[in-house]
Amino acid sequence: MHGSRDFGASVTFIRGAVQLLTCTRARLPVPLMLVGIAVSFGCSTDDPLAPTSTCPEESDGLQDGEASGALCPPGSAVTYDGFVKPFMQQYCTRCHDSQLTGSDRQCAPLAHDCDTAEGILKIGEHIDEAAAAGPDVVNTSMPPSGPRPTADERRQLGEWLACNADAWGTE
Ligand code: HEC
Repeated sequence: MHGSRDFGASVTFIRGAVQLLTCTRARLPVPLMLVGIAVSFGCSTDDPLAPTSTCPEESDGLQDGEASGALCPPGSAVTYDGFVKPFMQQYCTRCHDSQLTGSDRQCAPLAHDCDTAEGILKIGEHIDEAAAAGPDVVNTSMPPSGPRPTADERRQLGEWLACNADAWGTE
């Protein structure tokens, strides 16, 4: 009965492999289960900016935004309190707010917060490329859903960012 013993062994092997592959953790001893959980969390994202482990890694799509080319006209009338703050409250802070954590961020990256002028300028270049308009391009990847700013609102955002470009972070 040599053959059937081999057959039995391969069935056991295949079953084991399938169990591993399909992550059937229930039947594994507890330490292995913990390793399995750690591995599956580790695998779901490598992105240190992701607010939860279920958020996708930052997609490359957004990196495609271009610098708007916006300039700061002398005597620009676009102010933080008068325009940028209400703009951010209307279109951005339901996801990008320093007070929001975990799933409330709807996967908006950590440290990408639009609730203060400092927070915005720290990622000024990214915001320009994601949401602002200028002579070179109208960037529209943000917001990804919900009410969307008009091109003129995006142009004003670009202008304010340009007027404060010396305060942009370097990341
Ligand atoms: C519905 C939630 C939501 C809203 C509203 C929203 N965002 Fe985002 N934002 C996200 C998510 C999710 C990502 C990560 C997406 C990705 O990288 O693919 C992101 C990424 C970004 C990034 C990083 C892009 C980069 O350079 O990698 C910037 C900057 C940004 N958002 C700015 C804004 C601005 C400005 C607004 C308002 C005009 C806004 N977002 C509105 C969810 C949101």
